[in-house]
Amino acid sequence: MIGATRGPFSGTRAWRVRRGSISRPGPYNDPMAGCCSLHARSTGRCFSRFARRYRRRFERRGFETSQRQLVAGLEQAGLRGATLLEIGAGVGYLHQTLLERGAGSAMGVDLAPEMIVQAEDRARARGLAVRTRYLCGDFLELADAVPEADVTILDKVICCYPDADGLVRASLARTRRVYALTYPRDRGFVRFAVAAASLALRLVRSDFRFYVHDPARIEQWITGAGFVKRYENRTPVWLTQVFERAIPAAAG
Ligand SMILES: C[S@@+](CC[C@H](N)C(=O)[O-])C[C@H]1O[C@@H](n2cnc3c(N)ncnc32)[C@H](O)[C@@H]1O
Repeated sequence: MIGATRGPFSGTRAWRVRRGSISRPGPYNDPMAGCCSLHARSTGRCFSRFARRYRRRFERRGFETSQRQLVAGLEQAGLRGATLLEIGAGVGYLHQTLLERGAGSAMGVDLAPEMIVQAEDRARARGLAVRTRYLCGDFLELADAVPEADVTILDKVICCYPDADGLVRASLARTRRVYALTYPRDRGFVRFAVAAASLALRLVRSDFRFYVHDPARIEQWITGAGFVKRYENRTPVWLTQVFERAIPAAAG
């Protein structure tokens, strides 16, 4: 059965997802029915299809270059005992690896039900179940019910969401100390690839789209919220940045 999670999340539109059986709401047995906006529903459906592939790819090849950069920036900022919030957590390998390297506990949020199924399964397989919690849904809708974390991570998520401003501001508000993200650089060939992907998605009648949001504005939103950039690196496609709050917020 589907429903809001219990405890601090009751009353939200978070969905519990159990191993091997996504709780299925609404008509047509569609796990995304009744969730969020049209775009968010399409995004969830789209990424659910790729969840097993994401997991297999990581088990075979490990981190991509931009993710190795992200981990380097995070380790530089310090992770020992930290609480992590990963938004667009996918199948969970990033925050789960950070837990294995000394972080304390993690919450993963993702729109795609199958991503959450895989993340929970992987956490159990690696003995991390008691240090992880997962929520399925649009972070913007869940944000008020998500506990604050020392470290917030958005790895290739902003490019999957139209309201970058809303997503960044809502996630900054849950961040006590470190804010880390990867997102596409604004370059001609990246825009061309995104336009080609949009055309392909239109042809298969999906409402999901990729976006190249302006990096300068993203950075302005983050620094305007009182964060200072401590790390930056790049690949031809991705920008990796780690910010720290100038005056860390008190735990609470
Ligand atoms: C490109 S994938 C990256 C997944 C993971 N970070 C990785 O690199 O393996 C983007 C993920 O973000 C999720 N996502 C996009 N917008 C979201 C939102 N507003 N709230 C929660 N999850 C979101 C998608 O469902 C998808 O799983």
